[in-house]
Amino acid sequence: LQNVDLRLFPDADRLAAEMVAALIGVLARRQQSGGTASIVCTGGSMGKAFAARLMELHDRNDETFFTVDWAAVHYWFGDERYVPVGDPERNDGLLAEFFATAKVPAENIHRVLGPEDSDDVTDSAYAYAEQLRAAYPELTERFASERDERTPIFDVVMLGVGPDGHVASLFPGHPAAQSTGVTVGLSDSPKPPPERVSLTTEMINSAARVWILATGAEKAPVLAEAFTSEASELPVSKVYGAEQTMWWLDHAAAEKLPRG
Ligand code: 6PG
Repeated sequence: LQNVDLRLFPDADRLAAEMVAALIGVLARRQQSGGTASIVCTGGSMGKAFAARLMELHDRNDETFFTVDWAAVHYWFGDERYVPVGDPERNDGLLAEFFATAKVPAENIHRVLGPEDSDDVTDSAYAYAEQLRAAYPELTERFASERDERTPIFDVVMLGVGPDGHVASLFPGHPAAQSTGVTVGLSDSPKPPPERVSLTTEMINSAARVWILATGAEKAPVLAEAFTSEASELPVSKVYGAEQTMWWLDHAAAEKLPRG
C-alpha cells in the first residue's frame, strides 16, 4: 500500500479520542468554508467507540466539540445490517443517542431501509443507491467511469476492519467485494447477520478521506498483509481517499507491520 498515513495509539479509547479530534477539525473547516459536511459511519467496535467519544465530549461541554454544527452534518453508513430500524443489531443504532442529543434532523441521517420498508435486501441496496444519487447527482449508474474523480463526495469515510480483512460488508472472496456501482446487497454475509447492504469499494473511494480504524491483535495479520503486499486482494487493501488514507491502529493491531 502506498501513501498510507499511520497513527498508532496505546488503546481504543485514545484512538477514538484522537480520531474524533481530527474529525472535528475536518468538519469545522468544511462548515466554515460554507460547505455541507458529510461523513460515513462504521459499525462494529469502532462505531461504538466513536459514538461514546462524541457523547463524552458533548456531556463535558467540550469547546472544540461545539465548533461543529453536528445537526447540519450528513450521516451515511458504510454498511448496514438488514434488520428493522431500532433492532440492536443495526449500525445506525450505535449513534441513536448522539443523533437525539445533537438534534440531528431525520433528513440528515441517511439510513438503509430495513425489511419493514423494502421488499428485500436487493431492493434496500437499490433504495440506498437512489438516496445517494439524489444527494449527489454526479453519481450515475456507471459511477466510476462518469464521475469527475477530482470532486470527492464524502468528507470522511470511517471503516472498521474484520480479522479476515473485510471493510464495511465487503468480505474477501465474496462477489460483493468486486461489485461496481454505488451499493450492493448481500444475503450470505460470512459475518452475521447474513443480510446486509454495503457501499461498494468504488463508492468508498469517492471520499476525500478514508480512515481505517482497527484495534486488537486479531487484526494484525491482515493489516500486515495489506500494508506490505502489492498483490493483496483483501478489501482493506483496496480502499483509499482522494486526499488522505489514514490508518488509525492500536499497538496490538500494528504489531506485525514492518518497523521504521
Ligand atoms: C459491521 C461493520 C463491520 C465492522 C468490522 C469490524 O456491520 O459489522 O460495519 O464492517 O466494522 O467487522 O468490527 P469490529 O471492530 O467489531 O471487529
